[in-house]
Amino acid sequence: MAFRVFLNGYGTIGRRVAYALANDRDVEFIGVGKYSVDDRAKEAKDQGFKMFVPEAKIDEFKSKGYAVEGSIKDAIIASDLIVDASKDGLGYENKINYYLPLNKPAIFQGGEDRYGEHSVADIIHNSRVNYEQVYGKRYVIQGSCNVTGLGRIMQPLIERYGDEIVRFDATLIRRWADLEDKKEVKDSIEWDRDPHHQKDVADFIRSHALYVDVYKVPSRMMHLHQLYVRFKHECPSKDSILDVFEKEWGVALLSNAKGTADVRKKALELGFPFGDTCMVHIHTDVLKVQGDILKITYSDDQTGIVAPENHMLIQAMLFRRSKREALERTERIFRLNERKKALASEFG
Ligand SMILES: NC(=O)c1ccc[n+]([C@@H]2O[C@H](COP(=O)([O-])OP(=O)(O)OC[C@H]3O[C@@H](n4cnc5c(N)ncnc54)[C@H](OP(=O)(O)O)[C@@H]3O)[C@@H](O)[C@H]2O)c1
Repeated sequence: MAFRVFLNGYGTIGRRVAYALANDRDVEFIGVGKYSVDDRAKEAKDQGFKMFVPEAKIDEFKSKGYAVEGSIKDAIIASDLIVDASKDGLGYENKINYYLPLNKPAIFQGGEDRYGEHSVADIIHNSRVNYEQVYGKRYVIQGSCNVTGLGRIMQPLIERYGDEIVRFDATLIRRWADLEDKKEVKDSIEWDRDPHHQKDVADFIRSHALYVDVYKVPSRMMHLHQLYVRFKHECPSKDSILDVFEKEWGVALLSNAKGTADVRKKALELGFPFGDTCMVHIHTDVLKVQGDILKITYSDDQTGIVAPENHMLIQAMLFRRSKREALERTERIFRLNERKKALASEFG
């Protein structure tokens, strides 16, 4: 019998994870948990996903023409694993109210706490760094989009030049909202007094220190990171650095995009599902090697990057697949290599 997976929360991230689950024949996709009767509920219905709603809302959904398969609790009881894609912080409540009492394992998203009284798990997954370490875990956080991107860039550099690297410093320039968000984009640049990204990355990269500053800007078009890597001596050449990333899964090298919107709009124009590239894009035209400091600027597809990561994590937790096999299977669904090629041919 196939493992049964329930997706609790069908929002920006949930709909992308649903795409992976619906396209994976090795799992039985139980359905989606929906909390509001809205356009997204209609989308889930049109996609043919079975819908589970809170007990108290069953009548409301039914009266508006939605076939309800059962309550959220029913779906959790029927599942072997729950992917929780709820709004920040609600994953913790779901863990306390359902997953723990019903003894069900779960994946949480990056908006949940790793530390403190609302911590939901004792590990953050990044498939490039610690995929095998989640084998046997019952609760795991899939790192946020920025944290995922940082792992994808830092780990290959550490593997090639670890002994030579002194420290990493990152400035994250965050988008205000997602394209499909209804919330207003505020005309302000805001700073984050206590960004979670530094601690989150330290959860899976312990060999080198990373210091992070975060600013939010009025944009819906991806995040941009500027990563400074300090070496003990002279940095390797630009060509050597680019060579490190040439074959990296989920990392594109682009030389003539003018900004994040160029990349997002191209992804939409190329017909990538949801307009996602699902990766980070190193902007090689502004990659600089200056004495002992390497400066890498890359954009990070906030919405798409975590969808294949969740799929990798499901494979580790349910099947304990080797990383190689998991990557092959995730690649079959998401086709990152094709997307990377298409972007590279558009942006040089
Ligand atoms: N957006 C991004 O770019 C991004 C990137 C990486 C990680 N993340 C993380 O992914 C998580 C989800 O973010 P999102 O952007 O997808 O948020 P979102 O678009 O606001 O979606 C959240 C969903 O949670 C549902 N929900 C409400 N109450 C719930 C409950 N008790 N249990 C489960 N689901 C519930 C909502 O359902 P209804 O609409 O039916 O009320 C909504 O669809 C967060 O932890 C976030 O930090 C987001």
